[in-house]
Amino acid sequence: MIFKPSDFRFPDSKEHLYPETPELPWHLEVGFGDGRFWVQHARTEAANYLGVEISGVSLLKAEKKLQDAGLKNAILTKLHAEPLIQGVVPKQALDRIYVNFPDPWPKHEHNRLLQVPFFEMASGRLKAGGEIWFTTDHEEYFQFALEEARKSGLYDLIECAPPEAALQTKYALKWQDLGFDVFHVRFRVKGFKNVPPYQVFTEDDMPHSILVAGENPAITEFQKAVYRYGNRTVILLDVFKNLRNEGYVFLAHIEEEHLTQEILVQVTPREDGTTLVKTAKFGSPLITEGVKLAVRSVTTYLQERGYQVTHTAY
Ligand SMILES: C[S@@+](CC[C@H](N)C(=O)[O-])C[C@H]1O[C@@H](n2cnc3c(N)ncnc32)[C@H](O)[C@@H]1O
Repeated sequence: MIFKPSDFRFPDSKEHLYPETPELPWHLEVGFGDGRFWVQHARTEAANYLGVEISGVSLLKAEKKLQDAGLKNAILTKLHAEPLIQGVVPKQALDRIYVNFPDPWPKHEHNRLLQVPFFEMASGRLKAGGEIWFTTDHEEYFQFALEEARKSGLYDLIECAPPEAALQTKYALKWQDLGFDVFHVRFRVKGFKNVPPYQVFTEDDMPHSILVAGENPAITEFQKAVYRYGNRTVILLDVFKNLRNEGYVFLAHIEEEHLTQEILVQVTPREDGTTLVKTAKFGSPLITEGVKLAVRSVTTYLQERGYQVTHTAY
């Protein structure tokens, strides 16, 4: 079953996500590709499954494979692994995390998933004794991940043979065909760091602002505008005229930590003469701090062009 990010609670629970099988262990796979791993591995171990991928094409391929295999207690979502694990998975809830053949980023190590911050965050989402199973063909990334896990001081490292299903994924077969070796390690958590949950707001907190009544200047031209707030960035990419209500719709790109979203911000004239600026529900965005900042950016953009603001809630 595919979940939109906004279908989850932040944080969620095994009982809510898998109401028919809450007694089973909870396994999560990062970067499941075409979904082959879980279809095969689930034959050897019963567990509730949560798969996270950034590729939409992979999501659809994997869903078909899981459906054909009749795996009902499996949830797939399109997100970066980091905000999902940090935001959706509650404290000490997962029995296992699988990472099979992650992108090795040979020239850009800073993009690698398995680094100290990931090991720290995952340590608090795994149960005591829970494990991260890492399989790769890339010896240099393998050594790098071992070193990062050791640096975190939170895991025992167990080098052993990979599970059979990890040798049958699309990338496993590709690299084995080319003659590459496969490396496998299990990082067993022995202590944890308390990394607070990724903060996502509810629809009650929909950010908005109100512009004063009166003649508001029309927007007749537009250039991309970039607003930076600490480690978050909002880029207003475009603006469209709303023919239905004489308002505007801004297309905003938001980057915050590991999450990027593109959202619409509506600028709508109201009957009392004021103008409302708010996030559109279209696309079911996660209401994060970055989304609040996108509404703030549009408000600032309008202020810079002569609009006056009476009220802000972001
Ligand atoms: C080299 S492929 C391996 C796919 C699959 N595990 C296999 O063995 O065939 C790496 C996958 O990780 C996904 N990915 C990369 N970064 C990710 C992230 N931060 N969160 C979730 N998935 C990610 C990519 O979209 C890609 O499908």
